[in-house]
Formats: sequence, C-alpha cells, structure tokens
Amino acid sequence: MEKSRKTFIGLVDKAIAAASTMRRDELLFSHKGILYPTTVCSPETFKALESFEARNDDVILAAYPKSGTNWLSQILTDLIAISQKKTPGSESSVNAEEPEFPYLEVGDAEKYERMTKLLSPRFMVTHLRPENLPKSIFKNNAKILLLIRNPKDVATSFYHFCNGLPSLPSYETWDDFFTDFMAKKMAWGCYFEYLSEWNKYSDKENIMTITYEEIKENPALSVKNMATFFGIALTEEELQLVVERSSFQSMKKNSDKTHGSLGKVLFRKGGVSDWKNLFSEDQNEKMDKAFEEHIAGTTLGKKLKYDLYCKV
Ligand code: A3P
Repeated sequence: MEKSRKTFIGLVDKAIAAASTMRRDELLFSHKGILYPTTVCSPETFKALESFEARNDDVILAAYPKSGTNWLSQILTDLIAISQKKTPGSESSVNAEEPEFPYLEVGDAEKYERMTKLLSPRFMVTHLRPENLPKSIFKNNAKILLLIRNPKDVATSFYHFCNGLPSLPSYETWDDFFTDFMAKKMAWGCYFEYLSEWNKYSDKENIMTITYEEIKENPALSVKNMATFFGIALTEEELQLVVERSSFQSMKKNSDKTHGSLGKVLFRKGGVSDWKNLFSEDQNEKMDKAFEEHIAGTTLGKKLKYDLYCKV
C-alpha cells in the first residue's frame, strides 16, 4: 500500500480507537468559538499552525465537511502525479516517502516543522474558515480550490457520517441532528458562516470555486478546469484516467485500500438530492429561510443554484 495511504488510515484508526474511551460530550472541543473533534485536532496544533509558512506553489483544497473533500483530494493528487510524470495511484506524490496527513489542521504540533522539508508542490486539505488559516497562505498567494455543496445534501451526509464515525457525536434521530446543524453545533462550525466568510475571498485570483453538483454534472470539464487553474497540462487520455479513477463507483470499490475502515462510512451515496429522504416540510422551510438570510445574495450562494438543487 502507498505510504501516504498508510499514514492516512493509521491516523483515522487511532482516532477511532481513542474515541471509544470517550464520553459523547468529550468528542468535540471549542477553539475560538468553533467546535473541532478532540481525537484529531488540538489547541497546540492550532497554535503551531499560526506560524505555518505557505508556499506560492502549495496546492490547497478548502471545503466544509461533507462537501466531497475526499473526492477532490483524489482528483488533485492524481493531477499532481501527472504534472510530475508519475502514474496516478502509484507512489505519486513527490513527498510519498515522508507523507503527512493531508488535513492541515489535523495532527501533532510538530507537523509544520516537518512540512518545511517537503518538496514542492505540497498538497493540503482544510475544513477551516479563511480567518483561521495561517496568514501566509494569503500573503504568499498560494492557490486554493474552494469546494462547496448545497446545504441540504451537506446536512444529510453529515448526519450519516456522525452516526458512522465514532470520533463524532452520534444522533438518535435526524430531527436532533438537524437542530444541532442549524444551531452551529457541528464539528468545524456553522455551514452558513463558513460560506459567508469564504465569500469575502471568492473574487480573488488565486482562489477557484467549484461546486459538488457541477462536478457531478460534468466531471471531465471540471477536472480540466481544475488542471488549468493549477497550471497542469493534461492529455485527453490523462484526463479520462483521472475522471475514471475518481468516479464514485471506482473510489468506493478501492476504498478499503485508500481509506481503511473509514471507506464504508465515507462513500455512502455520492449523489445529489438525498436530502429529500430526510427533510420534513418544516425543516425545508427553516433551511430555505437560513439560506435566504445568510448567503442567497452572495457570489457563493448564487453558485450553489439553490432553487435547482434544494427546492421541493
Ligand atoms: P454522501 O454522504 O451524500 O454520499 P467529504 O469527503 O467531504 O467527507 O464528503 C463526503 C461526501 O462525498 C459523501 O456524500 C460521499 O459519498 C461523497 N463522495 C465521495 N467520493 C465521491 C465521488 N467520487 N463522487 C461523488 N461523490 C463522492
């Protein structure tokens, strides 16, 4: 197995094991008013992150949880491999020998020191809001791919994830989860605040926004656009390979190898509109109202095509 996947699976397994000895109310802790999972984040790591020095050629994926982060992680990792004339899916990254867990805010406080030794381009993923990212990311104009997904499918996916992953508080009912989702009690904070904060950066040249739904609609065009944004040249065959390897079916089939026990929880339905199986009329109204109040009029809000994907 690739070393980088071993690192990933190892950290997830450790987090799951640690969670098994914890009470539900210990699973999340608050940092600067936002909740994070205790098993993978810590105040020490957040402190160390402040002085992380980003590079201009870092490849950064930013997404609120359950927006398709793992999907795009694979696409970007494959694109980086291609840019280095390596085969996607093999020991692809230049840093495969000393892999770090790709989530910037996850891990021990020493990881940023180790990351200074990694060769470029470094790939990293984050669920953090922009104001909580190290300042150097914006100062050094690192490129960020911002992935967003409609709030109803995000909430639906998050609910099932919380009930499948022991590191997050589980819920007896969907109604209980919905109440907490709307009351900003999720790990990594409130969906609406996340989008409002990122909206302030949406017109920056070094940030490209893409929606889960548009990638579903046209994966080849989306991959092509991502490659162009990161300055990676692709042949038609390479493009097809990346698209095939990142299809839901193919990622789900490979998930034992790539994600270990997390795979079964993560690769659930991989579609659009599963929210219709959970939302009551009242919950639809509440979500529609919150969307209207917080983000409907913003650039990111418009990109989400809420009427198409979220109206009954
Ligand atoms: P569902 O729970 O709706 O199925 P994240 O990686 O941010 O945790 O997001 C997980 C969501 O992305 C899950 O949504 C998962 O099924 C979906 N997903 C993962 N890989 C995918 C793929 N290759 N194509 C489409 N959706 C994918």
